[in-house]
Amino acid sequence: MRVLITAGPTYEPIDPVRFIGNHSTGKMGYALAEAFAESGAQVTLISGPTTLPDPANSQIRTTRVETGAQMYGAAAAAAPEADVWVFAAAVADYRPREVAPNKIKKAGDTLTLELVRNVDIAATLGQTKRPEQFSVGFALETNDEEAHARGKLQRKNFDLIVLNSLRDPGAGFRHDTNKVTLLDAAGQMTIFELKPKAAVAHDIVRTVLARLSLRDA
Ligand code: CTP
Repeated sequence: MRVLITAGPTYEPIDPVRFIGNHSTGKMGYALAEAFAESGAQVTLISGPTTLPDPANSQIRTTRVETGAQMYGAAAAAAPEADVWVFAAAVADYRPREVAPNKIKKAGDTLTLELVRNVDIAATLGQTKRPEQFSVGFALETNDEEAHARGKLQRKNFDLIVLNSLRDPGAGFRHDTNKVTLLDAAGQMTIFELKPKAAVAHDIVRTVLARLSLRDA
């Protein structure tokens, strides 16, 4: 089995020394890469900038990217051959319209940056998904969690979505733990306890493998 995973944040450059980014650490995506590799899969891990080392497991091939556009390019190249797609990256939704060639000097009391939409990697690849391929997305929400997650599941053609609520202590960014709820396209919902991200990754892998074996049956 081949698995494609996006992980970490993206950095969208403003000028040669500044960028727009976010607090994603990549830990959940890297834990998923390890868990899929342990289950025997060949993993392509496409990672935004993180402080994590490339996984040592020889079944994981890591590609480093910076921007959403680069992440899309790498993911689009690997997607057709992958049986499972996991979109764990926190891709910046917008990027500066122009990247200043030189460091922007301060002038005046305010500065306005014009931002343009970044490609939605999961949604764009979702349109190319073949019936035998399986796509997993993430949703990090603060309110109306289930409704937002179900909307994303449909819009991005996911088979399964991993919902994190920032209302749950210990879930989401900057933690070594996570508390997730899995929702599938058939409406089934499974709520998991707060646990280390490595254990959450194994729960997700087990669920994906179970769904794939049901399809084969
Ligand atoms: N995603 C992606 N490319 C993007 C934005 C999001 O692949 N440009 C993926 C994420 O990796 C995640 C899922 O889409 O699996 C949901 O991401 P999220 O940021 O919660 O969704 P958005 O569509 O950006 O919705 P929101 O309006 O909440 O920002």
